[in-house]
This record gives sequence, structure tokens and C-alpha cells, in this order.
Amino acid sequence: MRNVTSETITKAFLDYCSDDTDPRLKFVLEKLATHLHDFVRETNLTHDEWRKGLELLYAAGEISTPERNEFILFSDVLGLSSLVDMVNSPDDGTPSSVLGPFHVLGAPDVPVGADLKGDNEGTTVVVGGMVRTPDGAPIEGAELEIWQTADNGLYSNQDEAQPEYNLRAHMTTGADGRYLFSTVRPAPYTVPDDGPVGELLNNTGRHPWRPSHLHFIVTAPGYGTLVTEVFPSDDPYLDEDPVFGVREQLVMEYQKRESTDGLPDDLVAKDQLDTPYYMVDFDFVLSDNR
Ligand code: BEZ
Ligand code: FE
Repeated sequence: MRNVTSETITKAFLDYCSDDTDPRLKFVLEKLATHLHDFVRETNLTHDEWRKGLELLYAAGEISTPERNEFILFSDVLGLSSLVDMVNSPDDGTPSSVLGPFHVLGAPDVPVGADLKGDNEGTTVVVGGMVRTPDGAPIEGAELEIWQTADNGLYSNQDEAQPEYNLRAHMTTGADGRYLFSTVRPAPYTVPDDGPVGELLNNTGRHPWRPSHLHFIVTAPGYGTLVTEVFPSDDPYLDEDPVFGVREQLVMEYQKRESTDGLPDDLVAKDQLDTPYYMVDFDFVLSDNR
């Protein structure tokens, strides 16, 4: 097409895609081009603003490493990652939430009831519940990947003082679908804010503090993979998570307990728990529609 105008440029873009373009790719590109072109028309984007946006992307590339992906962080703080989670979350299962950059493969296999706290400083928390179907049946053989920060707000792969797999575990449920572990209460921490994402947060008066959380990936044969997080109801940052990961169903009361009476016998640290400690009771509901 010649004489492309600000009104015809979107159609020209689509016409340039060949007829044998994969239909889903064509549909997604059509929507992307439509929204991007509308964005420029609606904002009357200036050259300076357009260049600034591209400079941010360039800076994101420059600061990114295999361990730090600034593009994902941009997606996180713009709400894109969470929106993708939301549109892909089944109605009948536990909502998903951001994976984040701190998951590592190879966490040690531990039995149900294991102690992750070990020598870690901080408040003891006992976390347990069931992995179950939407109608309440326990799921045997569900695998949970668990990871969290230590009391200093750092994950083990950010902190040389922590053992490699500190506060990380892989657990498999038995016939009753139960999971259980003792650990330390995770701490709030900041998303990396020394790069272009930090500049964006700073220029818009936003802070980088994520509410504290426990991360989980829960899988079981025949069910969709659940990537999620569980947050304590008293965290000061619950309503201002910079990556929009909080959902009402993922907010849990950390119940204060003064005695270890009534704790399950398979809790390995049952007789060594410091009191008071906190209990978190949370079921993971896996959907086969995910
Ligand atoms: C996290 O929860 O580990 C995380 C998520 C998004 C950005 C940074 C960290
Ligand atoms: Fe995290």
C-alpha cells in the first residue's frame, strides 16, 4: 500500500502478513498492532516520548542477565504478567500468581511434615493443608515446589550466606493429599529497582516492596500446573504489591499458637518448635481445566 495514512496503517500492517500466516499468530498480531497504533493516535505520542520508551527497552536489555530478566519485570510492574495469569486461571481452582525470578530447579525432596526452618532466624510458621480437586477429593502424588525468602528478605540464590537450597523443598502428597512443613515466616522484600523498572516506579511514585509470601508450584498428573503464592493477611504491602500478585483467595491468616498440642505427629520439628509460632492452613485446588 502506498500513501499509508495514520488511519490506514493498521490495515496495511495486516495486509502485509501473508495468507498462510498461522491464524493465531495473525490474530494476536492484529490485536497488538491495533492497540499499539491506537495508543499512538490517542496519546499523540511525541518523538521524545517514543524515543524514551525505546531507551527504556534498550536499558532493560543492557541490565538483563540469565538471572535477571528486566523485560519480565517490566511485564510484572505493568500488570501484564498478572493479567495473563488471570485470563488463564480456571474458575474452579486456586488462582495462580506470578512465578518471579527466584525459583530454581533441584530443591531437595523432603517428606510431608519436613522442617525447612533449620537454623534460620525468625518466627516459626507451620504450613499445611490439602492438595485437592474442586469437589474436595484428595490428590495423591501431587508434587509441591516450595520456595521463600529468609528472615532478611533474600532468597538463597541472592544471598551467599545461605546454603544453596535454603528454604526450598520438593514434597509429594500421600493418599490423603496432605502437605505439611515447618518453616520461618517469609519477609517482605523489594523487586530489583536499580534499573529502568526502578526508574519507572520512581517516576510514578511507586515503591518496590512486595508483600511477604510463600511460593508454590503444584503439579499432579491429569491436572493443570498451578504456580501461585500465599500471603499473610497482616502484611502492610498487601494492597500495593508492585507486581499485582495478590488475590483475596491467596491471603491467609497466620494464626498465632502458644502450644504445640494437637499438631500432627508427622511434623518432624513438633517437639522442637519455638512458641509462639504461627499456623497457616491452606488447600490447593487443582483444576483439570487449567
Ligand atoms: C517474586 O515473588 O519472587 C517476584 C515476583 C516478581 C518480580 C520480582 C520478584
Ligand atoms: Fe517472591
